[in-house]
Amino acid sequence: MSKEATLKLGEKEISLPIIEGTAEEKAVDVRALRSNTGFITYDEGFGNTGSCQSKITFIDGEQGILRYRGIPIEQLAEKSDFIEASYLLIHGELPTAEQRSRFSDRVRSNAFIDERMHLIFEGYPSDAHPMAILSAMINSLGCYDPHLATNNREQDFANFDEAAAMALSKVRTIAAASYRMSTGQPVIYPKRDLSYAENFLHMMFSQPYEDFEPIPEVTKALNMMLLLHADHEQNCSTSTVRMVCSGGANLFASISSGVTALWGPLHGGANMAVIQMLEEIHADGDDGSRFIEDAKSGKSGKRLMGFGHRVYKNFDPRAKIIGAACEKLLDKLGVSDPCLDIARKLEQEALADDYFIQRKLYPNVDFYSGIMMRAIGIPLNMFTVMFAIGRMPGWLANWKEVASNPKTRISRPRQIYQGSVLRDYVPVEQRG
Ligand code: CMC
Repeated sequence: MSKEATLKLGEKEISLPIIEGTAEEKAVDVRALRSNTGFITYDEGFGNTGSCQSKITFIDGEQGILRYRGIPIEQLAEKSDFIEASYLLIHGELPTAEQRSRFSDRVRSNAFIDERMHLIFEGYPSDAHPMAILSAMINSLGCYDPHLATNNREQDFANFDEAAAMALSKVRTIAAASYRMSTGQPVIYPKRDLSYAENFLHMMFSQPYEDFEPIPEVTKALNMMLLLHADHEQNCSTSTVRMVCSGGANLFASISSGVTALWGPLHGGANMAVIQMLEEIHADGDDGSRFIEDAKSGKSGKRLMGFGHRVYKNFDPRAKIIGAACEKLLDKLGVSDPCLDIARKLEQEALADDYFIQRKLYPNVDFYSGIMMRAIGIPLNMFTVMFAIGRMPGWLANWKEVASNPKTRISRPRQIYQGSVLRDYVPVEQRG
């Protein structure tokens, strides 16, 4: 295929280079379009816009493929764990035994937060949303270690490994502490001898005189759930992190913007919305059929939460893995959750329904993750926080990719202006 595309604008023809990715994805490079023609491209929602070239994560939405640094998500979910997958995403390769143990140690030894941060927690009202607290606290980390948050690109990049270990470790401590504070319970400090997932469960559920006994299946499920969320190429929160980083902002400022972007119900907040939807269906005595009709009509403003994806036009591979793991976990724990039956019924009906078939709407990762989190004991308002803990390595890897590229330009999209053209200022006494 030719390495150039030709664009005809009136009588003028221009050649635009074609860029090809390693997995044969192709793009028309329009970077010189405006300077050569005065035109810009218009692509609201960026459905057809490649905002960067990246080596981190690959998705083929048509085939339902997801790979971290080339390795299929199915293999990682079966054989790896969250900390190893984090190393892979951030550093580009699977670690040797020694690299892994050094990385793990670094994360482990960064689990504590500055004591003074506990005072900030105390200032929040008890019903403050943990996503708001998480985002503010992550940004605040830079205040306690200002040498890691200078907004001097060279210095922040040189200190990346230290800052990244802090972010990966402390996000979990902040999340658990915000939960404990909001429920009026004393904060539980991390323990050195526990794994990443165990330590989180300990900080959430231990009591001052009684350590939480982790159930191995629960720890395993949590670990896998975090791994499945670890990165997902240029989604809303990751592209936000990249955009903030492109302006030269430090790591903590950039990833805290990722937390905020993740919060919305169309993105990370969908996991909460799915459970609310399933509970509503259950409370209404509906088996899901009525809800599907409402979601199709669009009149009620309802959507089948946990269904559909901008990129996947086939099964989200994470949904397949998490759906199966969820059933296994519930079985093991002897838990029967009516929401799981409703979810299975909704999935079955939607996959056979023309509306969903024509629009290629399949279950996404959030469809089953909430049911799994409920079985683990995570409270509903912490679901999106769990997504944020899982997504941290992806944000870190993307920040590093942007910060390490000396050719990075500030992200600055254009617009098509549709407002009033030139008009004169009218003094207040002359306004009608
Ligand atoms: N239920 C019913 N209809 C839907 C749904 C849904 N969940 N998702 C999309 N549609 C319809 C939509 O109404 C539109 O129909 P029409 O062509 O008749 O106007 C068509 O499908 C295309 O939808 P869109 O909103 O243009 O698609 P999008 O790519 O902009 O949005 C999405 C993707 C994920 C925001 C959307 O599918 C959605 O709102 N899903 C529910 C929320 C959700 O589960 N989000 C989690 C995404 S996965 C986790 C993550 O990475 O964030």
